[in-house]
Amino acid sequence: MKLLLFFCALSYFLPPGFGSVNRCGTPLLQRCFCGLQFIDNLSKSMFVVNCTNLGFTNVDMLSQLTDDTEILIFTGNHLGTLPSNVFGEDRNMTKLRVIDMSNNGIHDIKGKAFHHVVGVTRLILNHNNISIASEEERNFHHPRVFSNFFNLEELHLTNAFTDNAGAALADDLHDIFVNSNLTKLYKLHLEWNEIRNFKDQRVFCDLPNLHDIYLGDNYIPSLNFNVTCLPKLRYLDLESNNITKFTQSDLDRLDVLAYPNRKDNLTLNIGSNPFRCDTAIKNLYNWLHKTNVMVKNRDTLQCHQTKYGTKYIMNLKNLAELKHAKISQALTVLLVILVLILVTLLGAYGYLKKDSMRGKFGPFLEAVSRKVQYNRIDSQDV
Ligand SMILES: *[C@@H]1O[C@H](CO)[C@@H](O)[C@H](O)[C@H]1NC(C)=O
Ligand SMILES: *[C@@H]1O[C@H](CO)[C@@H](O)[C@H](O)[C@H]1NC(C)=O
Ligand SMILES: *[C@@H]1O[C@H](CO)[C@@H](O)[C@H](O)[C@H]1NC(C)=O
Ligand SMILES: *[C@@H]1O[C@H](CO)[C@@H](O)[C@H](O)[C@H]1NC(C)=O
Ligand SMILES: *[C@@H]1O[C@H](CO)[C@@H](O)[C@H](O)[C@H]1NC(C)=O
Ligand SMILES: *[C@@H]1O[C@H](CO)[C@@H](O)[C@H](O)[C@H]1NC(C)=O
Ligand SMILES: *[C@@H]1O[C@H](CO)[C@@H](O)[C@H](O)[C@H]1NC(C)=O
Ligand SMILES: *[C@@H]1O[C@H](CO)[C@@H](O)[C@H](O)[C@H]1NC(C)=O
Repeated sequence: MKLLLFFCALSYFLPPGFGSVNRCGTPLLQRCFCGLQFIDNLSKSMFVVNCTNLGFTNVDMLSQLTDDTEILIFTGNHLGTLPSNVFGEDRNMTKLRVIDMSNNGIHDIKGKAFHHVVGVTRLILNHNNISIASEEERNFHHPRVFSNFFNLEELHLTNAFTDNAGAALADDLHDIFVNSNLTKLYKLHLEWNEIRNFKDQRVFCDLPNLHDIYLGDNYIPSLNFNVTCLPKLRYLDLESNNITKFTQSDLDRLDVLAYPNRKDNLTLNIGSNPFRCDTAIKNLYNWLHKTNVMVKNRDTLQCHQTKYGTKYIMNLKNLAELKHAKISQALTVLLVILVLILVTLLGAYGYLKKDSMRGKFGPFLEAVSRKVQYNRIDSQDV
């Protein structure tokens, strides 16, 4: 009886909606938060179902989700497989706008896992363990995995794929984008996925509305994908990759995406890459000072150099100033040497011609020395 009272009291002090079976629509979701919540970014209240860190090992309860759900936060659980029809077979989640299934240990996404999600604009699958290649004769590769998200604007796949999936992922991404018809996708996050090379240079070309691509913290070695096919590209993040240089043609391709070739300007983030201190870096440095592409933190860009077995990291700006300093130092040294040579030559000339000089200046010199002698005699007299 006391225990019951305690729980009554407890539920009284919990936030509205917490544990409210009515608001969640099912006892299966009773440990989740279900209710209206003010969303700062949108400046309005939305119906949120939040099941964070509740130890769920399947998504059965999601087929009971109320039709009112606008934001679903289902994170920090232990799912493994995401089965077909997560929201039930004949459900139409018309009001659903945001799905966050981060950090759930998701390994496999079955075909048609997400169905009737026409209103969803943001899908977040960060920090999962999604396999994409075939493994033990099972094929994890479902190119239509995002095909029902007709209105998707943001796709967050930061650290979403299993370790060592980088190569397979880069191969299959294009398939996924072609088959998923993400015509409205605006923002794509693919950081921390060990991506190196894309099998197909046109990997992003089927995302016609793509404005922002985040590819930071991968192993990409160069501008190895087509950016020219993305007329709306606004932000390209290649921070902390494995880029050692940009070729002139890379830089030209980036210029195509900036003023005056385009009304909008491209912003580029290429910080923390192992650029080499060579002629390509000189070219990059010059480009930085004339391009209309806005390069983030361009004054702190660095290049790497190995000299006599020692590794050096140099700031691009300092490198350029160092080069200028070296040139002006060299000029000074040259000037001094020239002056010395000139003086030596003059001296030698004077020595060789000393007789003819004496001939010319002789009488004058004699007169001077005689005068000095007279002066000495005079002063001795005094
Ligand atoms: C809200 O906006 C901030 C900054 O614009 C952003 O970092 C954050 O991710 C947004 N949150 C959501 C839930 O959209
Ligand atoms: C969801 O719930 C967790 C834990 O209860 C909380 O930390 C988190 O901020 C909530 N998320 C939102 C978007 O309200
Ligand atoms: C789901 O709802 C949308 C919008 O109300 C409607 O256009 C669509 O036909 C519905 N789909 C199904 C399968 O009920
Ligand atoms: C991710 O999946 C791999 C198998 O593909 C497994 O070995 C690893 O333990 C998983 N990691 C996590 C954090 O679940
Ligand atoms: C792609 O989506 C658009 C609407 O966004 C639709 O008109 C078109 O038929 C779809 N194409 C395919 C191949 O599904
Ligand atoms: C990139 O795509 C554009 C537009 O589809 C095409 O004209 C161009 O040739 C492609 N560039 C490369 C290097 O494949
Ligand atoms: C980065 O590039 C260098 C060659 O420039 C290569 O030796 C190295 O393996 C690459 N690192 C990764 C993680 O791909
Ligand atoms: C793009 O850059 C150019 C030159 O740097 C500038 O004149 C123009 O206003 C910029 N456009 C936008 C939309 O920022």
